[in-house]
Amino acid sequence: MGSANVAVKKNPLSSIEVSGPIPAHLARSVIEETLRSAILDGRLPCGTAIRQEALADLFGVSRMPVREALRQLESQGLLQVVQYKGAVVAPLLQDDSLETYALRFLLEAQALRLSLPLLDEEDFQAASKCIDALEVETDYGKIGTLNRLFHQALYGKAPNKKLLTLVKAGLVEEERFLRFNLEQMGLGTLCQDDHRALLRHAHARDIEGCIHELELHLQRGVNAIIRYLESQKPKQP
Ligand code: NI
Repeated sequence: MGSANVAVKKNPLSSIEVSGPIPAHLARSVIEETLRSAILDGRLPCGTAIRQEALADLFGVSRMPVREALRQLESQGLLQVVQYKGAVVAPLLQDDSLETYALRFLLEAQALRLSLPLLDEEDFQAASKCIDALEVETDYGKIGTLNRLFHQALYGKAPNKKLLTLVKAGLVEEERFLRFNLEQMGLGTLCQDDHRALLRHAHARDIEGCIHELELHLQRGVNAIIRYLESQKPKQP
């Protein structure tokens, strides 16, 4: 047995294009961004093993920036380190996704508190443009990104950069989930009422109102995840 199964396994990195040599000081961020978009758009599916040597060869760099980029992606929940296998692309939802949402609320509420008094008209314009674009966008990948940019526009003035890094990690996890599941969850129109309400309270500098809307908004995300998990369960006979 077996010989018939020796198909040549497609190199998972073959979908990744590298344009020319990368300056050493940009290597980490270029590798990180390239892998992030390949994971988010599904070119690197869940469970794909990501080998440091193969990446170093592909990008023509040493192992060090590769290792740093992988560590960043791991901290954003896009990669997981599995024993004996190394880094693999993380599943769409982690077992602790609901806990992630609970933490996201704490972090994003605090980011709003710090950022809201410092927002200017330009920030509100940026957030408003995201909503307008979300209303007509049909590409689920772009919807995921616009949702993240909308939220980041409201949190972005928070002076605590570490907080913003944690906030971004939660939003990236959601971006990936939205991209794959928006269609079956039918979240499209609901989301914009939430976003408009958030923006309205933000514009009025109503911090408590804004945080309340955020809680409702994230709760809808939790409900969507619960529905998704239910739908993945094998049907009872
Ligand atoms: Ni949102």
